[in-house]
Amino acid sequence: MTEPHYPKLAFIGAGNMARSIIGGLVQEGYPADRIRASDRNEETLARLSDDFGTGAGDNHDVSQWAEVIVLAVKPQVMKTVAEDLQPNLKHRPLLISIAAGVDGHSLGRWLGEDQAIVRCMPNTPSLVKAGASGLYANRHTTETQRQQAESIMAAVSRVQWLDDEALMDAVTAVSGSGPAYFFLVMESMIDAGVKLGLERQAATELTLQTALGAATLAQSSDVGVDELRRRVMSPGGTTEAAIASFEQDKLREIFQSAMTACAERSAELARELGQ
Ligand SMILES: NC(=O)c1ccc[n+]([C@@H]2O[C@H](COP(=O)([O-])OP(=O)(O)OC[C@H]3O[C@@H](n4cnc5c(N)ncnc54)[C@H](OP(=O)(O)O)[C@@H]3O)[C@@H](O)[C@H]2O)c1
Repeated sequence: MTEPHYPKLAFIGAGNMARSIIGGLVQEGYPADRIRASDRNEETLARLSDDFGTGAGDNHDVSQWAEVIVLAVKPQVMKTVAEDLQPNLKHRPLLISIAAGVDGHSLGRWLGEDQAIVRCMPNTPSLVKAGASGLYANRHTTETQRQQAESIMAAVSRVQWLDDEALMDAVTAVSGSGPAYFFLVMESMIDAGVKLGLERQAATELTLQTALGAATLAQSSDVGVDELRRRVMSPGGTTEAAIASFEQDKLREIFQSAMTACAERSAELARELGQ
């Protein structure tokens, strides 16, 4: 059997997301000496090295060394960081941006039009290795580089490739912002449970476990979520009463409008951040 090749991997920005991805990779056997990070905050960087044994340097050192570079800074500073990195990219590393709302066109302008760039939209459950990520690769990305990007993001999330970057706004509306919708549903269920007489702690525990159980069942089941819902409902029963009330209040339309607003804001943000 051939040894897996671990590309030299750099993270620009060593905050929450970088830390989580690095933690996932190291746990899965990625050699820590093949990972280096940079951050303007020295304490953050030192903590990462202490915890995982990764190397450290400044943005220029680590990017010149790396075969794959993950850009993990906030969207607002991406332009400055990317333009500053450009002279260090003559060796043509794969660049992976995990910044929300920064599109491939802007990244290409800042990093170099012919660079291999993968744009990724992760979500916050990536912090507990239960994320969902949408990935889009530009035309300069090789098959090997696509696989490298996929295995890096797979350390913290399930990965979905897109063949049209415009769909990134839809991914933002579904999984990028999606955790917040579920949190709002959970908040509403907890409050309703309390109004029905439960202690807040009991309502919270029952709600969270129900959310986890429903998602776990849906992922392991060979039927769709619509069928799983129907299986909880019996004619004239309790669940049917609740679902009929949701349908009457047009819950589906409420989601459609909210997610359309999200996708539109995502496209608008990309224009703003690209300036
Ligand atoms: N957190 C999530 O779950 C999540 C989900 C989806 C997408 N994302 C994306 O992931 C990216 C990182 O998010 P995060 O939550 O990890 O942010 P974060 O914790 O703030 O990490 C970013 C790190 O980059 C550092 N930094 C700022 N400017 C720098 C520079 N010029 N050179 C080197 N390092 C610099 C920051 O230092 P300072 O603290 O000193 O500024 C900070 O330590 C963002 O673009 C975000 O859109 C995050």
